[in-house]
Amino acid sequence: MIDVLALVAVRSGTRILDGVSLGVPEGSVTTLVGPSGSGKSTLLRCLNGLEPFSGGSVTIAGHRLAAGPQPPGALERLRRDVGMVFQQFNLFPHLTVIDNVTLGPRVLGRRPADEVRAAALVLLDRVGMGRFAAARPATLSGGQQQRVAIARALAMGPRVMLFDEPTSALDPRMSAEVLDVIVELARGGQTMVVVTHDHGFARRAATQVVELASGRVQRTGTAEAILGAAG
Ligand SMILES: Nc1ncnc2c1ncn2[C@@H]1O[C@H](COP(=O)(O)OP(=O)(O)OP(=O)(O)O)[C@@H](O)[C@H]1O
Ligand SMILES: [Mg+2]
Repeated sequence: MIDVLALVAVRSGTRILDGVSLGVPEGSVTTLVGPSGSGKSTLLRCLNGLEPFSGGSVTIAGHRLAAGPQPPGALERLRRDVGMVFQQFNLFPHLTVIDNVTLGPRVLGRRPADEVRAAALVLLDRVGMGRFAAARPATLSGGQQQRVAIARALAMGPRVMLFDEPTSALDPRMSAEVLDVIVELARGGQTMVVVTHDHGFARRAATQVVELASGRVQRTGTAEAILGAAG
């Protein structure tokens, strides 16, 4: 589902990613770990074309990205198949919860509005936010906003979901609620790459853990092998 081959990204003359290769099979969950500055966010952003790279290639959900600028339209097509959730939920503050979730599908305009809305309500129920469909983001807790952000990404029917430290802005209780949602997605067979420092999550859900250090893959293995036994 994802194949990264010898990826090189240079920023300000430094190789931020220095020949990263990894594979993510369909239906599997990869957790990316590594120290601050090791390139985790840069790698994730290269996977959905948010950042360009200068060497290597990325194949993701049937889309192939080569080094340099992407052809017109390629990134729009890719992002329909690749959902991303950030540390700071990035909901549209002026829209209600349900409008945040339906916006993407409405812009695509492939399905009738009532069908899009019904599907959004199902997704909001799935993340435990059905009761808050009419609320504005500012009235919600961080954990609630993040669950809406997950529903919004899922509304596009992505083949792959990318998460960049989805719980690091949250207190432990809210983190747990969000991680439970992501674990449920994993059980449902959603292909995912998750940057997280939460070892408990990795042990519960990760098919593989990839450890980055200084822009290179240091180790790849099971959560047990890379993170050690639960302590
Ligand atoms: N646009 C840029 N210009 C210069 N340096 C950059 C740029 N973007 C990232 N970097 C550097 O690249 C390195 C990797 O950054 P990245 O954000 O990918 O790391 P990370 O592993 O996600 O770290 P963290 O755990 O702190 O989120 C860091 O040293 C960062 O300072
Ligand atoms: Mg980061």
